[in-house]
Amino acid sequence: MKIKVVAGDITKHEVGAIAVNLFQGVTSPGGATGAVDAALGGAISTLIEQGEIKGKRGELTLIHTFGKMRADRVLVVGLGKQEDFDEEAVRAVSAAACRRLKELPGNSAAMITHGAGIGGMDARSSGRSIAEGTILGTYRFDKYKSSRDDSRQLDELTIVEHDASKMEDLEQGVQEGSVLSEATLLCRDMVNEPANHMTPTHMAEIALDVARSGGLEIEVFERSTIADMGMGAFLGVAQGSREPPKLIVLRYKGDPSDESNAVGLLGKGITFDTGGISIKPAANMGEMKTDMAGGASVISAMQAISQLRPRINVTTIVPATENMPGGGAQRPGDIVKAMNGKTIEIDNTDAEGRLVLADAVAYASSLGLPKLVDVATLTGAIVTALGKVYTGAFGNDQELVEQIVEAGRQTGERIWQMPILDDYKDQYKSDVADIKNTGGRAAGPVTGAQIIGEFAGEASWAHLDIAGTARSDRVNGYKTKGATGVPVRTLVRLVSNLANI
Ligand code: BES
Ligand code: MN
Ligand code: ZN
Repeated sequence: MKIKVVAGDITKHEVGAIAVNLFQGVTSPGGATGAVDAALGGAISTLIEQGEIKGKRGELTLIHTFGKMRADRVLVVGLGKQEDFDEEAVRAVSAAACRRLKELPGNSAAMITHGAGIGGMDARSSGRSIAEGTILGTYRFDKYKSSRDDSRQLDELTIVEHDASKMEDLEQGVQEGSVLSEATLLCRDMVNEPANHMTPTHMAEIALDVARSGGLEIEVFERSTIADMGMGAFLGVAQGSREPPKLIVLRYKGDPSDESNAVGLLGKGITFDTGGISIKPAANMGEMKTDMAGGASVISAMQAISQLRPRINVTTIVPATENMPGGGAQRPGDIVKAMNGKTIEIDNTDAEGRLVLADAVAYASSLGLPKLVDVATLTGAIVTALGKVYTGAFGNDQELVEQIVEAGRQTGERIWQMPILDDYKDQYKSDVADIKNTGGRAAGPVTGAQIIGEFAGEASWAHLDIAGTARSDRVNGYKTKGATGVPVRTLVRLVSNLANI
């Protein structure tokens, strides 16, 4: 879908449908909605009077114009209460409106800006949120369906703003929102792709495309090099699979003059998690194609970063492999040695995310990256704790964790801080190695996080557990069913915010 921004009068637009909006409780609409109401001989205010239009958030009312206007249809979009109105509301209503516009005859539509008028929002934020809501909210993963209904499409959406002085900010916002959303869709596509297609090799190919189109440096290390680097924890997981593992490293140089102005983004890239020898139950195991969502999110974030070009250096590291119970698979009781020399007793082969990330974090730390953020579908227990609403955040540097939580607040991706404390260390002590890879049932997400943190060395480190938020089981605002693309927009926002300090 192409998004255009134009200055002018929406009542004059010759498109299939136009969308206008209304706050809850408004009885006589003003602005562009008022102009459309007048052109329709008061149809909108009549429907308000009759109680059909209330302006509740996400409420959609379709009015047929029958020649009174150039557009055949007018969609009145409820914005909800004015005091609850924010960027997240703009994303949600834009998504709902656009999904409806897509269903209507015609392939083009026009929409007024939400929030930039009496909503009091700045035009750039409004433009960004409209682009995010419409692009993210109309996403579908249907490439494997033999028959697709192409008549129900929206090829072009025109955002019409009557105040010409807002155009520049609006356009900039739409541009930013498009970049962020396209990167999020790349992540959704990668995560929705089944594991027989989304192999470690294919992940590396996609990273290569991102590097090529964004002018990024890329290295993809093969099994033998990974072994030479001493990544025994990563390789222990990979040895049960016939798919060759890949260590994917992407570099963006936004501040070549200052190497210390840098952050590392690391992502768990388990393209399928059977559990290994500690095999998972059959029910819903198919969802474990999602286990590379952390890796997909950092690769996708790099696509947006390469386009937005913040003044900071970013290195992305993704250890990608399957976790399979093949004949060569590691066993419970095995002891592996990570890149930094620490030994790990394998208590449960299904606790594999922390193993591949142990080596990725140790490697990032050895590169001298001062700040690290890892993203992982790490524990089922984070879903017990926070449901599918909040991502869990952990870290050894309170400032970094707070910057991540704040970036999440700005993007509408909810993040809740969880604790890290030495008191939990006893839970993952081993009799035979430096640590073991599990910490028991109690505080599972915490011990999982801390085991990764053991490999951060001197770096500031934070960990995001997205096991609950990487996938949605229903349409919810601008989240569609399936992969959500969380936390791509937050990572990009974090990097941009860090670049401004
Ligand atoms: N990939 C899973 C975690 C997961 C569970 C993600 C549900 C998404 C939905 C992870 O590798 C795993 O199996 N974790 C174990 C850890 C345990 C063995 C310490 C878990 O959560 O049971
Ligand atoms: Mn697992
Ligand atoms: Zn896993």
